[in-house]
Parts: sequence; structure tokens; C-alpha cells
Amino acid sequence: MKINEKLAVLEAIAASAKSVGVPDIQKILFVCVQHLLHTSASLFETLIELGAEPSNIFLIGKHYSTCDTVSEKIKNMGIQLQKLTPLQKSGEYASIFNRDISAMWQQVQNHLNSHEITAVVVLDDGGKCLEFITRGVLAKLPVIGIEQTTAGLFNPAVINLHVPFIDVAACAAKTYLESDMIVEAILNKLSKTLPVDKNGLLCGVVGVGAIGKAIVRHLISLGCHVHVYDQNKENYKFIEKAICYDHLEELIRTTDYIFGCTGRDITQNLDMFSLTSRHKMFISCTSEDKEFLSLLKLIQSYHDQQSNPLKDIVWPLSNSAVITIIKGGFPINFDDSGESVPAHQIQLTRGLLLVALIQAIVTLPFLMKENIKGRVMLNPEAQKFVVQEWLKNSKNHKFSPSLLNKFKNIDWIMQNSGGLFRQADQLFQYFNFYEATQSESAS
Ligand SMILES: NC(=O)c1ccc[n+]([C@@H]2O[C@H](COP(=O)([O-])OP(=O)(O)OC[C@H]3O[C@@H](n4cnc5c(N)ncnc54)[C@H](O)[C@@H]3O)[C@@H](O)[C@H]2O)c1
Repeated sequence: MKINEKLAVLEAIAASAKSVGVPDIQKILFVCVQHLLHTSASLFETLIELGAEPSNIFLIGKHYSTCDTVSEKIKNMGIQLQKLTPLQKSGEYASIFNRDISAMWQQVQNHLNSHEITAVVVLDDGGKCLEFITRGVLAKLPVIGIEQTTAGLFNPAVINLHVPFIDVAACAAKTYLESDMIVEAILNKLSKTLPVDKNGLLCGVVGVGAIGKAIVRHLISLGCHVHVYDQNKENYKFIEKAICYDHLEELIRTTDYIFGCTGRDITQNLDMFSLTSRHKMFISCTSEDKEFLSLLKLIQSYHDQQSNPLKDIVWPLSNSAVITIIKGGFPINFDDSGESVPAHQIQLTRGLLLVALIQAIVTLPFLMKENIKGRVMLNPEAQKFVVQEWLKNSKNHKFSPSLLNKFKNIDWIMQNSGGLFRQADQLFQYFNFYEATQSESAS
């Protein structure tokens, strides 16, 4: 993506929202955890265009996806970009990051003492941001979250806060359309790591949810032999042409390239020495350094040298086998380039986040009045709008016409999206959703 390239989906949403106006947006405080990618910068630029005050936006990136050019651009916008404490060792990401997020909330608290703010919108990832909100902020102002990952939906600390949050993670548009794009990006970034001839490559996929299923499909299409393990055996119903296991140990022993797709630590309680008799490569496709965390900590305990925790970790065993953990166990599709999935594709997700931000601001008074807490559905009309705009601007996608047609049907979007659906009349005036929906559901 070129640095100042505009994203058509964000522009379309902004044009519609500007025609109505986003009430009091300049008095909203945004507290955000986001990857610092070029497309994230575009998202914040659009939010500011809609009237958000840059100094009311607090943002923290992530160590493994931060791009210096994007950081500079974001700082130049006047956004309060937070410093990340550098990582020194493998396996310490969560503790360092949690501390940095807590420090951001302290700054937020100070900011609130000297600025007129009416509400706090938390743009979250994994529930990390809401988890560390201070009691002072919660007591002072209405708070609403926006969650884009499944891990965040079930983060107990977030659930126990009893604040409403918009569920982008399980919305139909993200669930059905995003995973294939992520997996293409994963395989692109792996092109120099995997052998050119993938025929017969022994691959293991752990966790066959949205991301894992897409990985399985792509690896099979490349000619790999795919083996699968999921703690929920129900998920095997959707797996074709792969060998499904009852125990993770069997998969690790059998395969050479192990793709972690669970969002959890799958190496807890595993005896890696006995399972590894030849080279094995571990590739995370999910979030943070969670997937192989116990293995990382074990290796760190043997080698306490100061190597770069974001680089490949290579661990030779006494039996001449070698364990390699690609990119220090962080998700392979992120690096410091500012791009993971190409911009014209991932603008779908940025668009969903932007409509979620608008929904959060516009409907918060209604949600407060109705005392609604927990997961709130990302408005189906908004999803439809984003998908239709994205399709106009997305090049060479491989989605079936029958799937794409479903995104014209509001009932289908609603049935396939997580969170509570409540009619919020305030939202209908945006994007002319309502009239389009009525005529189509009638036909
Ligand atoms: N890399 C990226 O760009 C990217 C993009 C989207 C999501 N993610 C992350 O990927 C992760 C997975 O997302 P998803 O949408 O596929 O989630 P999902 O909930 O659909 O799938 C997770 C799967 O893992 C299984 N699982 C969980 N713990 C397990 C364990 N210990 N052993 C075996 N199986 C286990 C679950 O049963 C489920 O089938 C999340 O953490 C999400 O944040 C990463």
C-alpha cells in the first residue's frame, strides 16, 4: 500500500457518515490496541476526518507488527501513540505488553482530569485494552468496547466488567470473508521458508476454527499431506481430505510443519524431547506469542542469551533433530513492513471497525438507557454496506457468488453474527441502510 493511499471502503463509509454527522465525536475519548499497519493509519485518519480530536485518541501498537513509517505518520496526526517497552527475552511478551497498556490507562486517567470528555470507546484486540481499564475511568464515564478477536469475546476480565461491546470478531462478514485473506498472507510470508515443492509435505494444523480450516484447505490445495488436531472434535465434521487425531502428541510426532491456529498455548504439558526425532518447524498463525509459549519458555530456560525474541528460534536437540520456531512464535503474517494482508483486501476489516466505531458512538446512549451489557451484534445493515462497498473495490477475490449473495440478505447476516441484536433507531439514518434492507427483505 502506498503511504497516503486512500481506502475506498473507508471513504464510502465516511461520506455516508458525514452526511448525517457523528454526534459529539470530538468529545469522545478513544483508547485503542491495534497493529500499526498502513491500513490502520487510514482507519484513524478517517476517524479524525469524521471529527474525532486526535489528542483524544490513545493508541498502542504491538511489538511484532509495528512499522516505523506508520508510527511516524500516526504521531504526525497528533494521536497519542504509546511507547512499547522493548522485548528482551522470549516468552515475556504478555507481561511487558500488559504493563504498557496499564501505563496507557494511567495517561488516559490524567487526560480525563483536564479535558471535557463524554464517553470512552475502547477499540480492542483480544480484550487486552479493556482488561486493564482503571476503576477511575469506569466510575467516571460511560464505556463501550469494540472487539475484533474471538479470544477477546471470551476474556473473563472483559466479561466481568459488564460494559457493552460491539462484536466484530464473530460478525458474519469477518467470519466468512476474512480468514482466506489472512491465510493467503500467511502462505505468502512463508514462501521463503517452506520448500518450493510442497507435494507430500507433512503438515499439522492445530485448531480448526475459522483460521485453521482455511489453512487446511490451502495446504491441501498445494499438495501437502495435512493432519489435524482440535480439542473440539465436533469441528472435524467440516474437515475433508485430512487425517484427524484424538491426541496432539500424535500430530506432533507425525508432522514436520506445525501450524498453531488455536490462539492458546498448545505446548503446555508436552514432552518435546520424546516427540521430536527429526526437524520440526512451528508456525503461529494467530496472536501474540501464545501458540508455543511453554516451548518458548523452556528454550529460554536453556539458552538465556539475549537473542532477538522476534526472530526465528532454532533449538538443536541432542538427537540431532532441530526445533525451529518461526518468528519467535509470533504470527507469521506480521512483520515491520506495515502490511500483512494486501490493503485492497483487508480494507474489509478496517471498514467493519469503522462502522463499529460509529455504531458505538451513536448507540451508546441507547445501550446505557436499556442497560445493555456484553456482546452487541455489529449492525447487520452496516455489515452489508461494508461488504457491498468492499466487493466494488476488491480485486481478484475467489469467493463463490452464492456466498457473496448471502451478504445481500439481512436475515442471513443476522443469523450468522454473534452478539445481541437490538433495534437502535439512531443507526438507521446512517448509510441509508434501512430503506435498502426493507425492499430487499420484502423481495
Ligand atoms: N494472524 C492473524 O492475522 C489473525 C487474524 C484473525 C484472527 N487471528 C487469531 O487467530 C486465533 C484463532 O482465530 P479463529 O477465528 O480461527 O478462532 P476460532 O475460535 O474459530 O478457532 C480456534 C480453534 O482452536 C481450537 N482450540 C482452542 N484451544 C485448543 C487447544 N488447546 N488445542 C486444540 N485446539 C484448540 C478451538 O476448538 C477452535 O476450533 C485467535 O486468537 C485470533 O485472534 C489471527
